[in-house]
Amino acid sequence: MSAAASDLARPRSALFSPFELRGVRFPNRVVISPMQMYLGREGMANDWHFQHLAKYAVARAGCVFTEVLCVEPRGRNTHWDLGIWSDAHVPPLVRIREFVESCGAVPAAQIGHCGGKASRQRPFDGHGPLGAADAARGEPPWTPVGPIAEPSAPDYHLPHELTVAEIAALVDAFGAGTRRVAGAGFRFLEVHAAHGYLIHSFYSPIGNRRQDGYGGDRRGRMRFALEVAEAVRGEWPEDRPLSFRLSCVDAVDGGWEMEDTMVLARELRERGVDAIDCSSRGIRGATSLANLEAARRPARAGYQVPYAEALRHETGIPTMAVGLILTPGQAERILVRGQADLVLLAREALFDPHWTLRAARELEPDAGGWDFWPPSWGWWLAQRDRIGVEPDD
Ligand SMILES: Cc1cc2nc3c(=O)[nH]c(=O)nc-3n(C[C@H](O)[C@H](O)[C@H](O)COP(=O)(O)O)c2cc1C
Repeated sequence: MSAAASDLARPRSALFSPFELRGVRFPNRVVISPMQMYLGREGMANDWHFQHLAKYAVARAGCVFTEVLCVEPRGRNTHWDLGIWSDAHVPPLVRIREFVESCGAVPAAQIGHCGGKASRQRPFDGHGPLGAADAARGEPPWTPVGPIAEPSAPDYHLPHELTVAEIAALVDAFGAGTRRVAGAGFRFLEVHAAHGYLIHSFYSPIGNRRQDGYGGDRRGRMRFALEVAEAVRGEWPEDRPLSFRLSCVDAVDGGWEMEDTMVLARELRERGVDAIDCSSRGIRGATSLANLEAARRPARAGYQVPYAEALRHETGIPTMAVGLILTPGQAERILVRGQADLVLLAREALFDPHWTLRAARELEPDAGGWDFWPPSWGWWLAQRDRIGVEPDD
């Protein structure tokens, strides 16, 4: 498939309008959000990861993100996370990147470090801290690291409190991971700085009560995020865009608030960050989604869109909206109302990998016909339409 073939002839919808960040052109606004599969060994991507991401690119998503690639082994959630701490991780990622790009989608990677949330079982294995029974099956626990020696959820492992020298080494690890992602040819990079992971645990007053230069007031707590941004931007090519995923609010008393996010986003922009991916929560508990589940009430569709909207309006920074974006109409409204520049799908893409193709048929009745589908599929579907089908009863 050529890149040109992925553009609709005359897009009328906002969802299928192209978008540009630095030198990179997104053929449409549909982005597949990072989704950990928990199926890697020694941090290596394999055929499962390839097919997981390839199918969204075939189905014409404008941009496809890898799951979070951990910048050091201690920064993995589980033994099954993907890594970018060694050159050995690069070749299977190149294969994914090449295929995604060949479909006309922007190949994107997310890098991160899960800090105090490391050394856990996979969600579908219990999501608890690794223990003796896990060690007996070949998954021994390790000591996580964080800004303070305090578990991020009840009965999680006690993290090692990072020294200033160790913080500097981690900033370097983000730089080295970025160098590998750039070498692998990805066009868009995101730093995972949300969900209670390492960077979020530094800027959140719940996660960080250090008294040195990496803690204390907001400036001190933001320092690690800003140093990572500088290191990453220093390694990431000028003509490729960079985003940060933030937990815009902790949604916990005394936690990080939207006004703090405004300040951090402006500082990140000064350091060459081009967009903010607006997520929330996760500073305590297993995940940000687990926080919602624990609240024991239904989550609202698009529950995080107001963060993307507020940030975009107040700072002018391009934003990415994520969280229970379900229908093409909802995605279209987010863009038309100017609430975000890109819309991200995670679970709805798991439910319907052809979401983008379906959205085009719904929003672009003239231009979004079978021509938009990969010819190997679309030609046959168009033929079936030409023939027509009589009901069988
Ligand atoms: C299977 C799965 C794995 C996820 N892995 C990541 C990840 O690697 N990095 C990340 O920032 N968010 C991760 N998330 C969060 C999603 O990217 C997204 O922000 C969240 O699921 C809300 O969007 P949704 O309602 O469309 O699912 C994951 C979510 C799911 C369902």
